Amino acid sequence: MFKKIESLLLEIENLKAESSQQVEELRIKYLGKKGIISTLFDEFKAVPADQKREVGQALNKLKNQASVTIGELKKRFDDADTDVDGLDLTLPGTYNPVGSRHPLSIIRNEIVDVFGRLGFAVAEGPEIEDDWHVFSALNFPPEHPARDMQDTFFINKDPDILLRTHTSSVQVRVMEHEPPPIRAVFPGRVFRNEAISARAHCIFHQVEGLYIDEDVSFADLRQTLLYFAKEMFGQETRIRLRPSYFPFTEPSAEMDISCTLCGGSGCGICKNTGWVEILGCGMVDPNVLDSSKIDSEKFTGFAFGMGVERIAMLKYQINDIRLFFDNDIRFLEQFKSAL
Ligand code: DAH
Repeated sequence: MFKKIESLLLEIENLKAESSQQVEELRIKYLGKKGIISTLFDEFKAVPADQKREVGQALNKLKNQASVTIGELKKRFDDADTDVDGLDLTLPGTYNPVGSRHPLSIIRNEIVDVFGRLGFAVAEGPEIEDDWHVFSALNFPPEHPARDMQDTFFINKDPDILLRTHTSSVQVRVMEHEPPPIRAVFPGRVFRNEAISARAHCIFHQVEGLYIDEDVSFADLRQTLLYFAKEMFGQETRIRLRPSYFPFTEPSAEMDISCTLCGGSGCGICKNTGWVEILGCGMVDPNVLDSSKIDSEKFTGFAFGMGVERIAMLKYQINDIRLFFDNDIRFLEQFKSAL
């Protein structure tokens, strides 16, 4: 019997298992009620008295060893915390390639950051809008061509529902809900019924800006946009404001920056003018304030709106807007370092 115990001890010390199920089988085999060790304890009764001490000690040792070894095997599978049997936790991990931000996200974040440093908050509004928020509240007369099917995606069943053609609609939503002072930018996706070409797409992105308080002046608008242009395109950048027309601003202007490629001396990008247009802006028309129930006698404000694609194209010298939507990995990969 002593020999048997010794050989079992050796056997148990070298036990192996490949699954928690196998561990359980081993436990039953050695430590179960009718297991090998239990049987040995039964046989122990017949051991002659003079050997009882030695054999008893060996038997206890065997039982302890079996509990320890099987316990350790069990723990290994419990710790792995998985029902995938045979998982080897010592293998090297799998490599997950790191992606990069889309160039439009990079530029949008940069724009939002620049205005954030001037105290502008961020807000968003719905892409599916109604006539009021996209046109009427923004002082578009009923016959304005932008309401035409040519430019705007309407929902067939209800001409009051449309895909917003600009993020200016968010101005209205914010003014309806917040009393002045308001100082915020509104990034978002916009939709126009346009033929897709290298320069135009039916889906693109804008960042709108709105500042309303007492005594906001055109000088504030100019200085804010100058700061933006320098932060975005470099400190040497100059701006110029050209008179323009938008229904929701009076006076209205378009802003050019000195050409980012040639610095103003003239090149293909600026069509030899030295200037490139980057946004529309103006003083919020009192009618717009009134529509949103803001006292236009007390408050004034400025607004601006810019195309994210346009700014990204200028900054990265991209000559085809469609590249932003193709999501060709060879294009996107070039913006890895700009994370
Ligand atoms: N909503 C205009 C557009 O989509 C851009 C714009 C122009 C926004 C002037 C403004 C603004 O807030 O004041 O072309």
